[in-house]
Amino acid sequence: MALWSSGFHEDVSEVMHDFNSSIVADSLMYAVDIEGSIAHANMLGRQGIIGTVEANEIVDALQKIKDDIDSGVLKIDKNAEDIHTFIEEELTARIGNVGKELHTARSRNGQVALDIRLYTSKRLSVLIHKTHELITELTNQAESNLNTIMPGYTHLQPAQVITYAHYLMSYVSMFLRDTERFREAKDRTEVSPLGAAALAGTPFPIDLRYTAKQLGFAKIFDNSLDAVSDRDFALDTVYALSTLMVHLSQFSAQIVIFSSQEFGFLTVSDAFTTGSSIMPQKKNVDAAELLRAKSARIFANLIAMFAILKDLPPAYNKDLQETKELLFESIDITEKSLSVFTAMIKDTLPNTDNMRNAASHGFLNATDAADYLVRKGVPFRDAYRTVSNLIRTAVQENKTLETLTIDEYKAASPLFDDDIYATIDLAASLSNRDSHGGAAPDRVKEQIQNARNRLSAI
Ligand code: ARG
Repeated sequence: MALWSSGFHEDVSEVMHDFNSSIVADSLMYAVDIEGSIAHANMLGRQGIIGTVEANEIVDALQKIKDDIDSGVLKIDKNAEDIHTFIEEELTARIGNVGKELHTARSRNGQVALDIRLYTSKRLSVLIHKTHELITELTNQAESNLNTIMPGYTHLQPAQVITYAHYLMSYVSMFLRDTERFREAKDRTEVSPLGAAALAGTPFPIDLRYTAKQLGFAKIFDNSLDAVSDRDFALDTVYALSTLMVHLSQFSAQIVIFSSQEFGFLTVSDAFTTGSSIMPQKKNVDAAELLRAKSARIFANLIAMFAILKDLPPAYNKDLQETKELLFESIDITEKSLSVFTAMIKDTLPNTDNMRNAASHGFLNATDAADYLVRKGVPFRDAYRTVSNLIRTAVQENKTLETLTIDEYKAASPLFDDDIYATIDLAASLSNRDSHGGAAPDRVKEQIQNARNRLSAI
């Protein structure tokens, strides 16, 4: 019989019972549900709303219930309606009438909102930690590859010379923003809804700040109707997860391309690849492909959450229950994806010869040749045209800018001198890009230092 069923003439049907139950997703929240109840019981006792002896008895029994679930002595009943009901019933079974005092000045509506917040906040801390680990690995690899020349692409066409360090640090910038977004989502999550009661507050002299403080939350809600139905923090969290997953997916897509035979820039260790059942030569980077696909599920969950929320009146509606699974699944997938990606990138090596070789084709130094003329007073657009003509000549003669003769240069513009060859040298092209955040090794060193500083401040 349900906790709330005393005024009902009929039990709910079996199909309705299953349909209505949230116990599967709730099982993840038993520890935080008990944490919230302990804070509430302490507050009730402290405020004299229930007796101190009773409050202590409730707290002790709740602690034992938690220990018993932790150790497996007490199994969560898969037929329970939800975790709040299960724990309150277990409490009353253990300590009798005193247990029935716990729900004074409280409602499951506020309780579930609190549980999701406590649970999400803890999971966000783990996500922040795991993103830190990834950033640390990428910055360390960048530090070892400051002079590893590779082509930089736009539109996936060869553009200008960069280094593997500069390339890796572009992802570090993205993951740093993700970490900051997780922190912001965590701040919005850590607001205590306890004290909103069902929707309108309570006549009892509760101390909301005391409960919030016990739970480590810095803020309390403003409006009790909003407090029980606010799931903005869940949207913020899944949005932050989505953004991180976009970045993981983009990076994974690059790993698929760069580890192909045609590029051969990266070698992913066998530990993250699989073979084919029919083609003996195959080595597929399945980890990267799966990471690319996993992201889609997070975006879908975010849209589903928006769709659930969009028609709801203020205060609790059962629709809200459905957002919980979407949130938890998104957290699980993202956390696992982060672990797999970090392990995979740790085990991925750049093939520096292939990278350098690719950088010496595709006229990556064309802009340097144009800049050379600009430094001699030619307006950039004219310099651009002169170098375009040179490239046309080079393509016709199957040459590169390095192998064109000085006479060919001079025919294009008398301003070219022998020092053009030093200017278009790949290493020079690289070290010349020394504007803020640019590809020059010294600038990338700065980026690494800045990233490490930012990381320690998050
Ligand atoms: N099981 C519900 C949920 O997960 C919590 C209880 C809702 N309150 C209610 N009055 N039905 O959202």
